[in-house]
Order: sequence, then structure tokens, then C-alpha cells
Amino acid sequence: MKKLKMFTTVLLVSLALILSACGTSKTSGDGEKKTLRVVTDAAYAPFEYQDKGEVVGFDIDFVKAVAKEAGYPVKVENVGWDPVFIEIEGKTADIAISAITITPKRLQTYDFTVPYFLSKNEILVPKGSPIKSAKDLEGKKIAVQNGTTGQEAVEKLFGENNDKLKKFENNNLAILELKKGGVDAVVADNTVVETYVKNNPNDNLVFIEDDGTFEKEFYGLLLPKGSKLKADLDKAVNKLLENGTYEKLYEKWFKIKPDIKILKE
Ligand code: ARG
Repeated sequence: MKKLKMFTTVLLVSLALILSACGTSKTSGDGEKKTLRVVTDAAYAPFEYQDKGEVVGFDIDFVKAVAKEAGYPVKVENVGWDPVFIEIEGKTADIAISAITITPKRLQTYDFTVPYFLSKNEILVPKGSPIKSAKDLEGKKIAVQNGTTGQEAVEKLFGENNDKLKKFENNNLAILELKKGGVDAVVADNTVVETYVKNNPNDNLVFIEDDGTFEKEFYGLLLPKGSKLKADLDKAVNKLLENGTYEKLYEKWFKIKPDIKILKE
């Protein structure tokens, strides 16, 4: 009887050991993917902005969905625009999402995933402004976010040595300068400009499109050059574009259906 009891105890103990070993191997073994550090500049609604201390927006939902599809946990951190690029170049972050346009210049230093959003620069002016197109910006004071394609677009039109061009650390500061009357216009991404106009009717601002001047741009997830994640993330983005997840997120944030074909061209 005593022997049987001892045998049962040994059996139970070994069983417990085996089970706990299985448990640990599940959480710390090679199959488990590391948490990816995602950085952003959360001052660009509706793509990324702060709401009650939380970073939210289309981009945030999207990057979480992409990472989930690829099997990675993520942690999103608001670091600001210039640090986004410093962190990716220095590889202290794995991914940046921040309405970042894929440009030939950036491709020299960074990698991007396949495109996930179509954008264009647009002009934001006070109601009643004489500015009706990009060429009317000539000689006017213009605010842009430093180091954006908005800055590039204005410099392409009026040259790089333009003392009328004021550059701000983030786009909200550029808009604030317009509201204070320090500049005549802001140039930034169309969705951001139009969202601002819609959400702030009391500011009496309007947006000016100029399709003849501003070129089509595509956003991608920004990655360190040579990132091993690129293949997995590209696959995940394509999957979300195909399986309806992208469409669902797009409709949640923009209330219209996306043109997915244009991203695949
Ligand atoms: N699409 C523009 C660019 O890549 C502006 C992006 C600004 N993004 C932001 N989160 N502030 O240059």
C-alpha cells in the first residue's frame, strides 16, 4: 500500500514537472516572436494622434493588424517626427508608421513595405483667402512640418532658399501658426488637412486641392535598411488588403470604401 502511494506521488510529481516544462517552452521557446517596437509622430490625425493619453488612429489600428497577421506582438510609442527616422536608421525601433510617404530619397536610407495608402499634398488657408491654387502661394508665407513631402513640394515650386517657408516640428504647430496669422497657408497631406477642416469648423479654414501640381504619394511602413521583417510584413499587408480587414479599418476611419486597386499598380 505504502509502495503504491509512493509510486503515485512520484508519478504525479513527474507529470507536474513535464507539464510545467511544456508550459515554459511554449512561452520562451524559439516559436515565440519578439515584441516589435513601433514608433510614430502622434500629431497627424486621423492617422496618428493622442486621445486621452492614448495613441490612436488609422495607422495605429493598421500596424497592429499587420503585426498580428505576421504573428508579432507590438508596442507603439509616440516619439515625434524627426526621432522616427533616427530610431529606424539606428535600429532602436523595428517599424515606424506615421503617414510616411515612400520617396526615392528615403529609399536610399530605409526600406518600406508595399504601399498601404494613397495621399497628395493639399493647401490649408483661412476662408476668404486669395490663395486658390498652388501657384498663388508664390511670395506668401507658408508653414510646413519640417522634413515632410509638404516641405519638398513647396521647395520644388519656389526653391530651397525660401525665407517665406516656415518649418515646424509637427503639423499641429504649423496649423497653430496659420490660426495666429503668422503664415498665409499650410501645406500637408490631403486627408489630414480635410479632417482638420471638418473637425474644427470654428477655425474658419478651408482646403485647396491642386491635382495638377501635387503628385500622388503612397504611404508605407518604414523599416531599417535590410530589415528581415520586410518579407513577413509585406505578406501581411497584402493579406489584409485581400481579406477585407483593410477595408473594414478604412471604412471605420474614413467612412468611405478604399480604392485597393490603386495601391497594387
Ligand atoms: N506624408 C508626409 C511625408 O511622409 C507627411 C507625413 C507626416 N506624418 C506625421 N505623422 N507627422 O513626408
